[in-house]
Amino acid sequence: MNDSLSSSNLRVLITADEIEDAVHRLGAEVSERFSGRPLTIVGVLTGAVIFVADLIRSVRIPHRIGFVQASSYRGEATAPGALRIDEALLPDIAGRDVLLVDDIFDTGRTLERLVTALKRHGPARIVSAVLLWKEGRQEVHIEPDYFCFRIPNRFVVGYGLDYDDDYRHLPFVAELPAVGGEASESEGSR
Ligand code: IMP
Ligand code: MG
Repeated sequence: MNDSLSSSNLRVLITADEIEDAVHRLGAEVSERFSGRPLTIVGVLTGAVIFVADLIRSVRIPHRIGFVQASSYRGEATAPGALRIDEALLPDIAGRDVLLVDDIFDTGRTLERLVTALKRHGPARIVSAVLLWKEGRQEVHIEPDYFCFRIPNRFVVGYGLDYDDDYRHLPFVAELPAVGGEASESEGSR
């Protein structure tokens, strides 16, 4: 196995059991809040794919699912916040309640842009949920309506979150020490 991809250099921050509990609690809250409403859960690819897959199995009310893809390149040569949004996998959300689900709220620019983009499709309302909310990084006025965990300003991987597209499959959230807290200045896929 490629040494740089082994789990031995990772420090687990949130265990699989802790994630499971939090996702179940969120599923229960979502089920209550949107009961009787036409709900579409929209996951943000690629990072939210595991979170969404688990969350929808904890949501006990009828709902539809869809996806949007947000891709960024935040290298120094790129304007901050440059973000490409692909709506090809978004179903019709006109008149429906949308729960927008992303992996992590870091600066918040992705969530802000996605909410603006989805509003153009005429949903009844948009509510957001993230697995992780990183301390002290917020650059926008909006905040996620739901989150599962607050984490310190560290670069984390696992449970959908990647470093250079690796580590997404890990069932826990771990810190990648070699990357540290400044990783969001480098390029990153979503
Ligand atoms: P924001 O627009 O700054 O809030 O960034 C959100 C996106 O940046 C997330 O959807 C992730 O893809 C990526 N990101 C931010 N922090 C991390 C991290 O610690 N690990 C992996 N990806 C991250
Ligand atoms: Mg990413």
